[in-house]
Amino acid sequence: MRHWHYSIWVILVLLLWNISLLSRPKKFIFIAIGSAPENRNRRDACRRSWLSWRCPTVAYRFFTELNTANREQSVSLNVERQTLRDIEFQPFPQGRQVMQGARFLYQAAWALGHYEFDFYLKTDDDVLLCIQKLQHLLSEKRNKFFWGKYWCKQDRSYPDESFLLFSTDLLRFLVKNREFLLFDEEVSMAWNFGFLSRFLNISIFDDRTCIDSQQGYLTYFMHQPGFNFTRQISSDLSFCDKYLFSHHVESTIDMRIFKESSIIPPSHRIMIQHPRDTCGTNYSIIPCRKSRKLPSIQIRTV
Ligand SMILES: *[C@@H]1O[C@H](CO)[C@@H](O)[C@H](O)[C@H]1NC(C)=O
Ligand SMILES: *[C@@H]1O[C@H](CO)[C@@H](O)[C@H](O)[C@H]1NC(C)=O
Ligand SMILES: *[C@@H]1O[C@H](CO)[C@@H](O)[C@H](O)[C@H]1NC(C)=O
Repeated sequence: MRHWHYSIWVILVLLLWNISLLSRPKKFIFIAIGSAPENRNRRDACRRSWLSWRCPTVAYRFFTELNTANREQSVSLNVERQTLRDIEFQPFPQGRQVMQGARFLYQAAWALGHYEFDFYLKTDDDVLLCIQKLQHLLSEKRNKFFWGKYWCKQDRSYPDESFLLFSTDLLRFLVKNREFLLFDEEVSMAWNFGFLSRFLNISIFDDRTCIDSQQGYLTYFMHQPGFNFTRQISSDLSFCDKYLFSHHVESTIDMRIFKESSIIPPSHRIMIQHPRDTCGTNYSIIPCRKSRKLPSIQIRTV
């Protein structure tokens, strides 16, 4: 009799577990945005601008720390979380350079546990993303796929941290195998992936033309302090016609950058280029250059 009781409980728990897995909302893209507790202005700028262009098939969260915020900050963070419902707290020490790899895995595991999605984008709170264009360009589910922009520096060739897009099967592989992979939780996911991606049979899209990040900005005007919209000629404002993403954008950049942009032409397709081709002989990495834990070997294309 006791056994009966026990198995009924087990079945019930399994059933509930399955129901909870089945009931995860289905999205196309999940976006994880790293944000320091004090960056309310940047979070608001994202909400006001590119996040407001979000379609129902895109979900996002800001990930920040409550434990390192001072008392005043934690009160306002809690209020922000309760009212806007787009913030998750993560248990990490202060400083954006600390435990970057572990932060990434924490956020990815959170997303996988709460949503079902086809793609996962990790980004920052000081960016501008043409979110509709991204959805359009991805258009359908892909497997074993990564999209980013590589640094073509010899022995330090890895994707920039501000835009890391994974297909969900690849993300799940990384999260599930964190114990078995050579992975340094202290250093960034970008560096870890720069190394790991050499051994994985995946398609890598090294996007040199649409991702505007610090390897050399494609749109200098956006990164100058005191950027004045009114003065800027409208061709410069149609950002999303030409580009997809920009890093280090001031929080004063607003919706006008989108309003000037037309809906992208349907002929636009992503043209996948591997960093082997874009970086040539510079596509090499020595993992221990940025990590005490990763091996001291040179990996390069021959
Ligand atoms: C790599 O992946 C492709 C496509 O998924 C597959 O056809 C191919 O057999 C794989 N190669 C190896 C060595 O596993
Ligand atoms: C921006 O430029 C316009 C046109 O040149 C000028 O009238 C305006 O005062 C400028 N705004 C700021 C904040 O500098
Ligand atoms: C390779 O690196 C060298 C030196 O850092 C640089 O001058 C060159 O432009 C790089 N090549 C490519 C294809 O980026």
